[in-house]
Amino acid sequence: MVRVSQQKHPEPRPLVVGNWKMNGTPVTVSALLSALQRHALSGELTARADVAVCPASIFIPQALTVLAGTAVTIGAQNAAAHESGAYTGEVSAGMLAAFGVRYVILGHSERRALFGDQDDVVAKKVRQALNAGLVPIVCVGETLAERESGATFDVVRRQLKAVIEEVGMDALSRCVLAYEPVWAIGTGVTATPAQAQEVHAFLRQMLAASSREVAGQIQILYGGSVKASNAAELFACEDIDGGLIGGASLDSEEFLAICQAAK
Ligand code: 13P
Repeated sequence: MVRVSQQKHPEPRPLVVGNWKMNGTPVTVSALLSALQRHALSGELTARADVAVCPASIFIPQALTVLAGTAVTIGAQNAAAHESGAYTGEVSAGMLAAFGVRYVILGHSERRALFGDQDDVVAKKVRQALNAGLVPIVCVGETLAERESGATFDVVRRQLKAVIEEVGMDALSRCVLAYEPVWAIGTGVTATPAQAQEVHAFLRQMLAASSREVAGQIQILYGGSVKASNAAELFACEDIDGGLIGGASLDSEEFLAICQAAK
């Protein structure tokens, strides 16, 4: 499959993002951040890809401090659908941006399945994130039942369309997409490079129908049981621009090896 990009627009550097989910203690997070700082300062962590890590929100200030002065940027795992006000327990996109956060993961399947982040909520969160100057990492992906019933393309199309209808194609160019098949998340079952590439190419072609420029530029990450042992073959695919890494990003050496597998 030939990537539907325009040759005159150079493709951006690959992007590898660690999603730490709700893991870590002050002690383990300190150790992980110190190891990442060391690998970042030596240049090896970001030699082949842009790299970001997304700790639980309470660890974000610490991550910003330890990784300041390195090329590693920080993301959040969620942000509110509202700008400010009486939303107990929420953290706004504006607050994250004010602290120096660059990315925010939105529409992760765990949020969709467990916390009511349906398509319309995800779309509103993307709007708030863009308004605050964050780069949303918009996640889409089908469950195993949806894949087995042949609904994969319908599901990811619906999820992406909800965001485009809320923010428009131009704003989408300021987002990163992530294809994360739900059946591959935390299961050890990775999509084959062919399975992943097929959906990435579908998403890019869907975007190309509205804007070839946005389709060519936008980064589409793959997520779901990416490890050092399978990263290179996934990242070698034409339409895979990097990875969203869960469990393997909690181990600094494994994460380093994944970042070094970027094409
Ligand atoms: P795993 O890499 O643990 O499968 O998690 C993927 C993921 O959900 C990243 O957002």
